[in-house]
Amino acid sequence: MSHAPTPRPLRLAAAGPLTGAMTVPGDKSISHRALMFAGLAVGESRIRGLLEGEDVLATAAALRAMGATIERSAEGEWRVHGVGVGGLLQPQVALEMGNSGTSTRLLMGLVASHPIVATFTGDASLSKRPMGRVIEPLARMGAGFAAAPGDRLPLTLRGRCPAVPIDYTLPVASAQVKSAVLLAGLNTPGITRVREPVPTRDHSERMLRGFGAELTVEETGEGRVISLHGEAELRAQDIVVPGDPSSAGFWLVAASIVPGSDVTVRNVLMNPTRTGLLTALRLMGASIETMAEREVGGETVADLRVRHAPLTAIEVPPDLAPSMIDEYPILFVAAAFARGTTVARGAHELRVKESDRIAAMAAALGLAGLTVREHEDGLSIEGRDGDPLPGTANGTTVASLLDHRIAMSMAVAGMHSARGIAIDDAAPIATSYPTFLDTATSLGAATTWLNR
Ligand code: S3P
Repeated sequence: MSHAPTPRPLRLAAAGPLTGAMTVPGDKSISHRALMFAGLAVGESRIRGLLEGEDVLATAAALRAMGATIERSAEGEWRVHGVGVGGLLQPQVALEMGNSGTSTRLLMGLVASHPIVATFTGDASLSKRPMGRVIEPLARMGAGFAAAPGDRLPLTLRGRCPAVPIDYTLPVASAQVKSAVLLAGLNTPGITRVREPVPTRDHSERMLRGFGAELTVEETGEGRVISLHGEAELRAQDIVVPGDPSSAGFWLVAASIVPGSDVTVRNVLMNPTRTGLLTALRLMGASIETMAEREVGGETVADLRVRHAPLTAIEVPPDLAPSMIDEYPILFVAAAFARGTTVARGAHELRVKESDRIAAMAAALGLAGLTVREHEDGLSIEGRDGDPLPGTANGTTVASLLDHRIAMSMAVAGMHSARGIAIDDAAPIATSYPTFLDTATSLGAATTWLNR
């Protein structure tokens, strides 16, 4: 699951307009949660449209190691027999999280209130990411931790049962931290409360209610207050996972920047905590039509038709950050082709994603021929007013740094570039979007694997 041993260099080049209609794989956040809640429920859950990327498979493997029965019946179709809240078993092996921060932080929450000890390991990228933000509240609930210096992986967690319910105000806008505390609260007596001054993705709240947990959400002057009654009983569900708006984002930008393009992405999740990129692109003048809005499994989905359009630079509203936190790398690519200088600030969190995405994108766009200025909390990007990027010089590659979204964003940038863009390692794409390159090719992009 670690990408380091076998880098796969790739070159993406311009090949004319992108056209066609497609679907994107299931939403990553919902896929992780579907497996985890089904793994804790009583009875057999069925999941359709599950994202079969490496991150989600790491969640499935960990849940199996703790007693859940998880089987794939067809493409995207999975069956899960849960162990019941409180029923997780002692894993006999370390839980290998690969590249996946979501698996790690949410599963830490699950383990924290069970009477088990689990060791979490990860790849070089995940082993650099901060876990203190989850350790702190879970330790207050009674769990014990032995982590690598700086509160990083590898990390061993000793769960406490019964755990102590807490009333916790999120110090950082993070759905992973919120979810870790709520998941720990499931097997904790009393009420576990999370206060979130800034709203973040709300899939845990929606899905926990769907699985039968007693959970309330109050909107107050100080933000949202989520209260969960512990010692919950979750009942098995049938779940349909909508298409991932973060994956759709690559095509929204690709079709916007490549002249003559006309692409429809079907079945995209439109949850308002996830649609910040759509808002930002529309502010830039992108032509994106929302069609056939409908309800699927308690979420709104729609088809998005996007046509090439001239883009104009914007100051990205910082309050959009939580609803597009994973989309900044691809927004930076849109900015590269806009008229004027786009300024994106207020996005410190990008420094602690799968890579430092501010530094990674500054370096990659710079190598592709763009003028960018790095800020502590974002980037300023001088756009090329529709002209293609020069692309990478012969023998030069941009570094994806074990970060799927850097690899895919720079691949999209290559689709409107004079020389193409070479990426040192495209293997990380498989963590969240294993079919990305097939779709790129089917829409008309030119992709070539390079010799190592
Ligand atoms: C996620 C939350 C976000 C996001 C990640 C998925 C989730 O992380 O970046 O890709 O599923 O809860 P943070 O909670 O760290 O912002």
